[in-house]
Amino acid sequence: MFSTKNLSPQQLSAFTALILSVPISMGVYLIRPDWLIAVSALIITFLGSYLLIRFVLESFIYRKIKLIYKYIYQTKASKREETYYKYILPQKGIDEVREDVEKWAEQRSAEIELLKTNEAYRKEFLQNLAHEFKTPIFAIQGYIDTLIDGAIENPTLSKRFLENTSKNVSRMVTLVEDLDEISRLESGEQPLYKENFIIQDLIKEVYETLSIKISVRNIKCSIKKGCESPITVFADQEKIRQVINNLLENAIKYGKDDGNVVASIYKTDGKHVLIELSDDGIGIAEEHLGRIFERFYRTDRGRSRDVGGTGLGLSICKHIIEAHGQTIHVRSKLDIGTTLGFTLDSKKD
Ligand SMILES: Nc1ncnc2c1ncn2[C@@H]1O[C@H](COP(=O)(O)OP(=O)(O)OP(=O)(O)O)[C@@H](O)[C@H]1O
Ligand SMILES: [Mg+2]
Repeated sequence: MFSTKNLSPQQLSAFTALILSVPISMGVYLIRPDWLIAVSALIITFLGSYLLIRFVLESFIYRKIKLIYKYIYQTKASKREETYYKYILPQKGIDEVREDVEKWAEQRSAEIELLKTNEAYRKEFLQNLAHEFKTPIFAIQGYIDTLIDGAIENPTLSKRFLENTSKNVSRMVTLVEDLDEISRLESGEQPLYKENFIIQDLIKEVYETLSIKISVRNIKCSIKKGCESPITVFADQEKIRQVINNLLENAIKYGKDDGNVVASIYKTDGKHVLIELSDDGIGIAEEHLGRIFERFYRTDRGRSRDVGGTGLGLSICKHIIEAHGQTIHVRSKLDIGTTLGFTLDSKKD
């Protein structure tokens, strides 16, 4: 069916003028059956009403629509937009205008949603931050107060309290360092110094650095059989060292005594290398898997182990890997173990 919904003002004016002029000229023909007069009446009424209707439409309706456009795009119209308002907008049917306005409204509500989530995120972040700082600060306050209240006279007691105070201060220092690291990574301030290096060598170096922690839990760290032949990757070596360090610390913390940690390295498609670190520890329940890369996120099981983490380690890893344009992922099963893996670019010539 013929629809008048999507007509431009010119078409609408012409259409209405035609509806007016045809019956009028037919009427004229009935009164004076003269073709010339009837056709002249048709032309005159058509032109007259066309111009009048178009003038009314443009000056009263389209001017208002133009205002709406200017308002929703919040612009002081530039030259290009002026042309748009003058030549393109008047061609648009009311339906197209409606679509534009709806699109605009959708965009706005998406923006508002984003702002709301950011706001919720910010609140949660501050709460977490306050909580993480409270624990060591209150502990330090307790030790110092007890010392002042007399414990300082007892050398063994005061030494123990001071050692505990020092431990809590270290915890705060780590927290501040991690936060600083995250905010620098987020702001994109930290440039990457990429170079070619052999990933197996770096993994072995990290095993070496953490050897004391590893031996305390009697964990056996190795490189998977078949993955020993050297593979060169192109990345920021120091940042990747930090990633492997964080992953290994987790594998030790959430691993089991006398357990195993195995690193595997695969060339995936000639351009990328996949590095995975697997442990046979407590594992992560499925409902937590999607969240462990969030700042401060710790699973209940992780918490109950009371190994003093703050939940920033994996968040830092994710930032570093994503800054390399790569991805990090996790697979895990409760009481079976966890595998965390990430990709890197392979050697650049
Ligand atoms: N290998 C793993 N096995 C089991 N759970 C893990 C493992 N790695 C991470 N998790 C879980 O994911 C959570 C987040 O890890 P993340 O490294 O970010 O924080 P953290 O180790 O608790 O603290 P931080 O690394 O800041 O000292 C941990 O608290 C733990 O619950
Ligand atoms: Mg950690």
